[in-house]
Amino acid sequence: MRKNIVAGNWKMNLNRVEGIALVEEVLAKLPTDNNTHIIFAPAFVYLHKVAKMCANTSKVVAAAQDCSSNEKGAFTGEVSASMLASCSARYVVLGHSERRANFTETNALLKTKVAQAFENDLKVIFCCGESLAQRENGDHFDWIKSQISESLFHLSADEFKNIVIAYEPIWAIGTGVTASTDQAQEIHAFIRDLLVEKYGEEAAESTSILYGGSCKPSNAKELFSSQDIDGGLIGGASLKADDFLAITQSF
Ligand code: PGA
Repeated sequence: MRKNIVAGNWKMNLNRVEGIALVEEVLAKLPTDNNTHIIFAPAFVYLHKVAKMCANTSKVVAAAQDCSSNEKGAFTGEVSASMLASCSARYVVLGHSERRANFTETNALLKTKVAQAFENDLKVIFCCGESLAQRENGDHFDWIKSQISESLFHLSADEFKNIVIAYEPIWAIGTGVTASTDQAQEIHAFIRDLLVEKYGEEAAESTSILYGGSCKPSNAKELFSSQDIDGGLIGGASLKADDFLAITQSF
């Protein structure tokens, strides 16, 4: 049914030589019977190189960490979705909490980025997640619902097939604090219920929902054994080949 996915979000880490070495090592050590879909999300500047390195493996592809909300033109420093597609990216990560916080990305802006991605046949890993204060106030369900509905629920059921959701509680990102399996499963089930309500059982059941936030080899197995957790969006632990490989084998 739905895909098990492990995506490595390198953020602004690894230079070109280090990134290539990491991909080489992961590909070399990847078991031949690997069933997990693996995604590398490097920086733009060597995305094309990484995508080319993955070209011979059906289950390993490259993603960008962001794209412009504009199609093209006078936007110095921006990278368009069509440029990413021309570099053989297959996915783009949108709405990461670091982009929402540091680059004031709103749900409305992300809706336009999703449109650009789809215009160029890129699949989207759409991130959502609450802050610690929101969780403590009990606002996290409403917050996540608004993030998903305001950026994605204009899509048709057919278009939604190209969406992967990543639930990333902000308080767990890069902190070493992981959401407990129960906490993560509760939100994943909530998200899947939203999808059932909007798109029906079949579409909801075939959407992969990833967990992100201090996911590592020591907790991946337990997290991924939950009914509604279909893999992970991995930051820190995606920068070491052995850790990343161990996570990909945690289903
Ligand atoms: P982390 O980051 O695994 O380092 O917590 C996850 C993410 O931000 O995607």
